[in-house]
Amino acid sequence: MKHEGKVAVVTGAAQGIGLACARRLAEEGALVVMGDIQGEKVAGEATALGAVAMTMDVSRRDDVDALIGCAVDTHGRLDIMVNNAGVGFSAGVLEVGEEDFDRILGVNLKGALFGSQGAARVMVEQASGGAIVNMTSVQAELAIPNSVAYGVSKAGINQLTRIFSVALASHNVRCNAVGPGTILTDMARGAVLSSDEAYRMILSRTPLGRLGGADEVASVVSFLASDDASYVTGQVIYPDGGRMPVNYTVPVDALPAID
Ligand SMILES: NC(=O)c1ccc[n+]([C@@H]2O[C@H](COP(=O)([O-])OP(=O)(O)OC[C@H]3O[C@@H](n4cnc5c(N)ncnc54)[C@H](O)[C@@H]3O)[C@@H](O)[C@H]2O)c1
Repeated sequence: MKHEGKVAVVTGAAQGIGLACARRLAEEGALVVMGDIQGEKVAGEATALGAVAMTMDVSRRDDVDALIGCAVDTHGRLDIMVNNAGVGFSAGVLEVGEEDFDRILGVNLKGALFGSQGAARVMVEQASGGAIVNMTSVQAELAIPNSVAYGVSKAGINQLTRIFSVALASHNVRCNAVGPGTILTDMARGAVLSSDEAYRMILSRTPLGRLGGADEVASVVSFLASDDASYVTGQVIYPDGGRMPVNYTVPVDALPAID
């Protein structure tokens, strides 16, 4: 199996894409440690997978270190780190407040920083390489007017990924990112899929003509985490149904104007 004997940590693993990643890695032989702010939920999912779970908040460095420490204490090492936990947020560029901006960057961007730092320390010390995979978004590249906090957090993840990839290359620790388009999870249901019109708009910019499944993101994460990607580092792969080549969902003449 692809990940036989490897030890993997996945954050935001209680549901959605993170859970699909944990499941995929476990199915392919990895020993998985799952972290999430929803403690009971992640514990239940971990039991079903034969994995270990921890309640934690990725925006807190101590929590992230404790999660990585749990993997090392339980399984003796760390080979794969999936920094997946994230939160969405919509507000116009003139409306977004400092508190919300800090909160979104705290979870999405600082969470990826803490996870990458904690994993890199262990992997460098182990001296047997490793793979870090960060969850970004098409919004790292595509500008959505009411999504400045989220978009900036994901753009930051892309650059964080590239910088870590260069900094860690001499230790054979690879660092890549996966940037989904619209994937059918609670996050998408609560935001872009709130109405029939929103759904049609998404499909009007999705050449493959359907939304993605969480397992279709997990398969890319699994590839990047595996030795099949042994010469791939500093890259962002977009499982987005073809969204990136066609532009985002809003035709230019429908962009909201600022009074
Ligand atoms: N669903 C999409 O269309 C989509 C598109 C692009 C990128 N993404 C990214 O994929 C990742 C997973 O999103 P999803 O769609 O599965 O969302 P989701 O809301 O279904 O799952 C997110 C998980 O992260 C956990 N989480 C949130 N804040 C946390 C924190 N501070 N500490 C620890 N865990 C926390 C939640 O409890 C939840 O289990 C996110 O980074 C998101 O930005 C999703």
